[in-house]
Amino acid sequence: MTSPNSVAYRPATAQDLEPIVAISRQIWHMGMGAALEQRYGLIGGKPWQDYIAQSMHTAVAQAIERDNCLVAEVDGTVAGWSTWQTDESRSIGTIGYNGVHPDFRGRGIGTELVRLALEQIRSAGMRIAAVTTGLNEGHAAARAVYEKLGFESLVESVHYTMELHHD
Ligand SMILES: CC(C)(COP(=O)(O)OP(=O)(O)OC[C@H]1O[C@@H](n2cnc3c(N)ncnc32)[C@H](O)[C@@H]1OP(=O)(O)O)[C@@H](O)C(=O)NCCC(=O)NCCS
Repeated sequence: MTSPNSVAYRPATAQDLEPIVAISRQIWHMGMGAALEQRYGLIGGKPWQDYIAQSMHTAVAQAIERDNCLVAEVDGTVAGWSTWQTDESRSIGTIGYNGVHPDFRGRGIGTELVRLALEQIRSAGMRIAAVTTGLNEGHAAARAVYEKLGFESLVESVHYTMELHHD
């Protein structure tokens, strides 16, 4: 698969796992883990990067195994990725973790990765496509990508936390 800007889009392989996890450590500032750390300091003695690396590793390894992960490559370097899952019983395909390294943003790569994932969901026969994202500023680009591709907001939600005091 090739598309605009001399970017190659292809199914991810096990070799892509490490670069994807490395990018996620670099970019996942907009996520829940970073927000928790900003509010409360280190959680469980580890930085948010360790938590996202762990979840990304698990989710992307599973997606690669199921052939549900694509990467965008620029000159042999992984620039971004997208993942998805399908639920045949409900006929819903869900876009999962996706991201683009900051050096390659604003060139349509993120949109193309999600568009191609949607094509896969469509060819799997799903009736509905879904994705969950944040309403914070860090997720603004992701929302722009999803809305550009035709997603419409269904339910807006909020994640509350409070510190419990023990005396
Ligand atoms: C979301 C992400 C993958 C987009 O990658 P990208 O390659 O830059 O995406 P594109 O170039 O295809 O499109 C980005 C769009 O976001 C828009 N955008 C960027 N920053 C924005 C902001 N702060 N507010 C609103 N829109 C913004 C761009 O204008 C562009 O839309 P346009 O083409 O209509 O102008 C990338 O920003 C990223 O990795 N973000 C962090 C990880 C993330 O949020 N992943 C999704 C988790 S749900």
